[in-house]
Amino acid sequence: MSISSNTVALVTGGSRGIGFATASALLARGAWVAITGTDQRRLEVARVALSATDAGSRVLALRADVRIEADVAQAVARVVAECGGLDVLVNNAGVGGFVEVSEMTAVDWHRVVDTNLTGVYHCCHAAIPHLKARGGGWIINVSSLAGSNPFVGGAAYCASKAGLNAFSEALMHEVRQDGIRVSAVVPGSVRTGFSGAGDGPGTDWKLAPEDVAQVIVDLIAHHPRSLPSRVEIRPSRPPRK
Ligand SMILES: NC(=O)c1ccc[n+]([C@@H]2O[C@H](COP(=O)([O-])OP(=O)(O)OC[C@H]3O[C@@H](n4cnc5c(N)ncnc54)[C@H](OP(=O)(O)O)[C@@H]3O)[C@@H](O)[C@H]2O)c1
Repeated sequence: MSISSNTVALVTGGSRGIGFATASALLARGAWVAITGTDQRRLEVARVALSATDAGSRVLALRADVRIEADVAQAVARVVAECGGLDVLVNNAGVGGFVEVSEMTAVDWHRVVDTNLTGVYHCCHAAIPHLKARGGGWIINVSSLAGSNPFVGGAAYCASKAGLNAFSEALMHEVRQDGIRVSAVVPGSVRTGFSGAGDGPGTDWKLAPEDVAQVIVDLIAHHPRSLPSRVEIRPSRPPRK
């Protein structure tokens, strides 16, 4: 599938970081793009910034919390109503929250797992009928190398991303005969404001959000016979340990 002015994409968590860079890359290739987030003010700032690069007003910004099934259903219905369908779902919205299990509250646990894993289920569940109606499409899940490299303080986050990797693979087998290609994009450290991890001085070695966005748009351009179902991307020269 090539990205064109007929392509409609929904990028969750598109108000900043990797999601914003992905929305921008999709727009630059002519797609219609809807972004979601929980913070209305950040969404509006992102919509204005994206619209400034897009002559055709093809940006839709929708407040929708991926943890809430009804929010997601409404957002997907809005995209389909306003853009005529849906071809690409990028499940990017995610949160960190790094605390040892003995100190972790149930609220901490649910915030991470409900966003990073259950939220992806909500979005896929709402989107798949519309992707099928178009004869196929893409679901791209932004996972993390933390899913296969667990670390102290990362129990919730690492578990959510390990779960997402398994979810992606199962779903890939489930829907590929419908022409829906599912892929997990699995980054290492990216220079964003993610969980206060920092994009300040001394972080130049990290990936840029645009590097991950490039992987996502390159995936979508793959020939229909080809399904790279998992792509890892990491900084080429991290600090030596
Ligand atoms: N940065 C890294 O080093 C790194 C590495 C590997 C993987 N990743 C993954 O990449 C993805 C994006 O990370 P990022 O670094 O770009 O993070 P970021 O800069 O913190 O952006 C996160 C985005 O997700 C949205 N979001 C958070 N909770 C949400 C919810 N419940 N519903 C809807 N939207 C929500 C945020 O919008 P609001 O604030 O408005 O909710 C924001 O747009 C995440 O899945 C993360 O796990 C990041």
